[in-house]
Amino acid sequence: MLRVIELFSGIGAQEQALKEAEIKHRIVATSDIDSYANKVYEALHGEKINLGDIKTIQRLPNADLITYSFPCTDISISGRMKGFDKGSNTGSSLLWEVQRLLEVARDNNELPRFLLMENVKNIISKKFMPKFQEWLDFLTELGYKNFYQVLNAKDYGVPQNRERCFMISILNYEGDFKFPEKQELKVKLRDLLEDEVDEKYFLSNKLIDCFTDMKNRNGLIRGLRFRPKGKDEDYAWTITTHAGSRPTDNYIIEPIPAALRGRYESDGKIKQHLELKDDGNTNTITTVQKDNLIIVPEATKKGYALAKEGDGIYTNRVQYKRGVVQKDKIPTLKTSPNDVAVVTKDINNLISIRRLTPRECFRLMGWCDEDINRAFKTGVSDTQLYKMAGNSIVVNCLTEIFKNLKEIIENV
Ligand SMILES: C[S@@+](CC[C@H](N)C(=O)[O-])C[C@H]1O[C@@H](n2cnc3c(N)ncnc32)[C@H](O)[C@@H]1O
Repeated sequence: MLRVIELFSGIGAQEQALKEAEIKHRIVATSDIDSYANKVYEALHGEKINLGDIKTIQRLPNADLITYSFPCTDISISGRMKGFDKGSNTGSSLLWEVQRLLEVARDNNELPRFLLMENVKNIISKKFMPKFQEWLDFLTELGYKNFYQVLNAKDYGVPQNRERCFMISILNYEGDFKFPEKQELKVKLRDLLEDEVDEKYFLSNKLIDCFTDMKNRNGLIRGLRFRPKGKDEDYAWTITTHAGSRPTDNYIIEPIPAALRGRYESDGKIKQHLELKDDGNTNTITTVQKDNLIIVPEATKKGYALAKEGDGIYTNRVQYKRGVVQKDKIPTLKTSPNDVAVVTKDINNLISIRRLTPRECFRLMGWCDEDINRAFKTGVSDTQLYKMAGNSIVVNCLTEIFKNLKEIIENV
């Protein structure tokens, strides 16, 4: 029976993955200061021994595996990037509390055989590698052999583009550890969407109308933030990426419904044009998929990407980003639901974009509805649920890692 401690336990993706990998285990302790996450953890896994704030823990109980998916806020490119220097007091510098506890364990001859780390991919970037190397050196000195790799959830059965760095450390070990092979993605984002969702999750029609409005108001035509280009000025639209150069530019940061239409050229050939109708009704859904597109501005030469129903998109400052449309997948979930959206039909059968529901976020982190129901019964608010999902680890990814570790666990 593997004795496990989950530091920074959150909602316990670690425990869930151990269950799914069918590794016999017992959680001897957890540590987390978020009362909402602790509540949901207990709803999902039963009562736990929570040691609370890691800074106050003097000595950990004996264990065979310690997991530490410490806060990424100061390492993530979407975060503050203050880093995780020892003594810097950043959330991410809590890593050095793990060091302190491992030193205590070493002094008491209680080092666990296995360690599991999870954090954002940026931890092994040029900027943070020296600090991460310091951590690797510390573990090596303790006697651990470290294996780390970036895994993307989309390669392990979940339609979320989420890259995370995982590290397995094994004490006094000469052998090898292989991270799981990539799998073909068979589940599409639309497979995980709820059939009916509240109107509040949709981008309001008012906003859409505003974006597609072609009325001339004191010389300003909002729809003309799409600057016609070349000789097909009426419908060959390009979105400028130079925000701020015109009065209407602040509108181009939002995705806009459009259609691809075949138009005859002077040479008699049909050419596809991206088109906005001037009646503001471009978002009427038809059976032809290319009629139902969303233009999402992005920082490429072209200036935009096209999204269709079932695609996931970034919605936050898209004009400065690339890869804003993810085909049949959602971009990385964060702790707030406002950065990503899904292209779907609204209640009027119009192509639209909407935020994900908390249930969809949990599904995209690898949880099944039965578990989600138990978590939601706690009555924790949507805001907190989004945060927990965005903070957590995609269960499927971790399950595959644990399956590969299982053989080593069972042979020691
Ligand atoms: C990246 S999340 C880990 C989520 C977890 N892997 C899961 O499966 O949900 C980091 C966690 O560290 C917790 N945390 C932050 N400061 C802490 C502290 N001083 N002591 C213990 N936990 C802390 C946060 O509340 C958060 O749940």
